[in-house]
Amino acid sequence: MRTQVAIIGSGPSGLLLGQLLTDAGIDNVILERATRDYVLGRIRAGVLEEGTTHMLDEAGAGARMHAQGLPHDGFDLTFAGKHHRIDLHALTGKRVMVYGQTEVTRDLMDRRAETGGVTIYEAADAEPHDFDGGKPYVTFKSNGVEQRLDCDFIAGCDGYHGPSRKAVEGKGLETFERTYPFGWLGIVADVPPVSHELIYSNHPRGFALCSMRSNTRSRYYVQCALDEKVEAWSDDRFWDELRSRLPAETAQAMTTGPSIEKSIAPLRSFVAEPMRFGRLFLVGDAAHIVPPTGAKGLNLAASDVRYLFDGLREHYSDRSDAGIDAYSQRALARVWKAERFSWWMTNTMHRFPDAGSFGQRIQEAELDYLTGSQAASTSMAENYVGLPF
Ligand code: APR
Ligand code: PHB
Repeated sequence: MRTQVAIIGSGPSGLLLGQLLTDAGIDNVILERATRDYVLGRIRAGVLEEGTTHMLDEAGAGARMHAQGLPHDGFDLTFAGKHHRIDLHALTGKRVMVYGQTEVTRDLMDRRAETGGVTIYEAADAEPHDFDGGKPYVTFKSNGVEQRLDCDFIAGCDGYHGPSRKAVEGKGLETFERTYPFGWLGIVADVPPVSHELIYSNHPRGFALCSMRSNTRSRYYVQCALDEKVEAWSDDRFWDELRSRLPAETAQAMTTGPSIEKSIAPLRSFVAEPMRFGRLFLVGDAAHIVPPTGAKGLNLAASDVRYLFDGLREHYSDRSDAGIDAYSQRALARVWKAERFSWWMTNTMHRFPDAGSFGQRIQEAELDYLTGSQAASTSMAENYVGLPF
């Protein structure tokens, strides 16, 4: 088999890149380890920056997002028992779109099928080869049979645990990491959200987040210890803990109900540099991870794709490699600013084991200053809506 761009991974990165390439007449094949249904079964965050929504429109996959997504002009911060609204639109002229990542993935998969894009599911043991030479290729197994996909370029869109970053370990790869001493226990429940906007809560008992998937489906999280087991959390225990971390009037207004999904996820900040090795490019979660506090994961995947697609299109149309040569530096410049914001928001909103009462007061003072300062609120808002691509 041969293609121009081999894409490993059918998550948001691989699908968005594949669609833009297909629409530009650049042949590409996606190799996906799992089945379509498995990929669609992942519950993931869904706060889209305008740059991301514009790219979904460019890829012809934005219609359902505009029809079913929830445009948000702001969000609430609560601390010391009070609500403070960050008016994103007033402060930045921009808004965000709340639309589940699973739906983004579904829309991109449907678009790929409509436009004849090739995805090989259950492609096992995919491995990039000869990407520092001139004839890169990917080997994989399909139905137990060893296959080879020759290509011009390889896009490693295979997430944090995929083979692409592993293939460049020891080839100049440098990694940067911060793990956090807590996780997020999240649930999905078919109950109306307590607020039409998101609520990020700083509380002495720990962080809490009120979000949603629609006007009838809520998504809630509470910070929990890393050694917590989801089996130890009945629905009633979750609802009681969540409400204890919110201002009284909000807790009283909350509609509770049976969870349809409940899980615990660790938090991590991670960056791999550089993001290009010859004809192999690391994209999205393959290159970086952010704690979900700032809702940046999907949006960083989109900006990586923007830079890489523009570079590949320039390579094939203008016979210029300036774009792909600049990919890593351009992508990392935006990645690190989003890593900083996500790290800052995580440090400001969560209870750290060694923080003590002094640490709680410092966080509350920072939030009190932030919500009382136009300059500080604007800084938070412009990071949250997304810095320019
Ligand atoms: N071969 C083929 N596919 C693989 C392999 C492999 N060896 N290993 C992993 N994959 C696939 C996974 O099954 C998944 O479908 O690569 C895809 C990676 O998708 P994501 O992990 O979603 O990463 P990405 O597409 O970069 O999207 C980043 O997704 O994880 C969230 O929070 C993250 O919102 C961010 C977004
Ligand atoms: C979510 O809806 O899952 C969500 C929203 C905002 C975040 C993190 C998660 O910052």
